[in-house]
Amino acid sequence: MEHDSASRTEHDKRAAAEAAVDRFFLPGMCVGLGSGSTAAFAVRRLAALREQGRLLDVSGVPTSRATEALARELGIPLITLDEHPTLDVTIDGADEVAPDLSVIKGGGGALLREKIVAQASRRVVIIADVTKLSPRLGTHWPVPVEVLPFGWRSQQQFLESLGARVVPRVRENGMPYLTDQGNRVLDCAWGPIDAPDALASRMAARAGIVEHGLFLREATDLVVAGPRGVEHRA
Ligand code: 5RP
Repeated sequence: MEHDSASRTEHDKRAAAEAAVDRFFLPGMCVGLGSGSTAAFAVRRLAALREQGRLLDVSGVPTSRATEALARELGIPLITLDEHPTLDVTIDGADEVAPDLSVIKGGGGALLREKIVAQASRRVVIIADVTKLSPRLGTHWPVPVEVLPFGWRSQQQFLESLGARVVPRVRENGMPYLTDQGNRVLDCAWGPIDAPDALASRMAARAGIVEHGLFLREATDLVVAGPRGVEHRA
């Protein structure tokens, strides 16, 4: 079947998500449920398997209020990280994926909870369509940086001093975009990033920067779908 590029992308997101759920979610697991449109396909796949009587004892920690609402609507049992501080596996999307499986996340603004859940997981499976693949982080996508509302303009100046073109994220109605934690997001375009570790360290050391969207060592696996089908890389 012919696909225009948007429906091809949707098809591939879904194919990657479903393959990952089928392979990595096992009976009895406590799992992390990612955020965004690709991760939503994974949540829906889990619900579909439950309807078939499979994976009924799998419970999940949602990485955003949106994912929590979707999982609740679909009847997926939810747990908290306080109840289960270590998770078996998390399946989540990404905005940009480099060959070493470092990724940029946070296009949907859920980067803080996504990173907390990823770091609490034994295995982190990134699901993506091929358009997310990139030779170097920053090539196609800015790095979302979550900052406290207090003093956010000084964080903007600081990020500009690190060479970023900074765009404060706004909603469609022009009001500031706020994360689930009530923080602001500054989208920081650096272009291809030469030294992501050094950049991540500079941001981590800055008071008022709550978290950044560079996930440099969290992902253990990538399930990517494209014209050649679904591939797994680890
Ligand atoms: C949300 C994220 C998403 O996983 C990322 O933005 C990818 O989204 P999508 O699957 O809709 O392309 O990091 O904070």
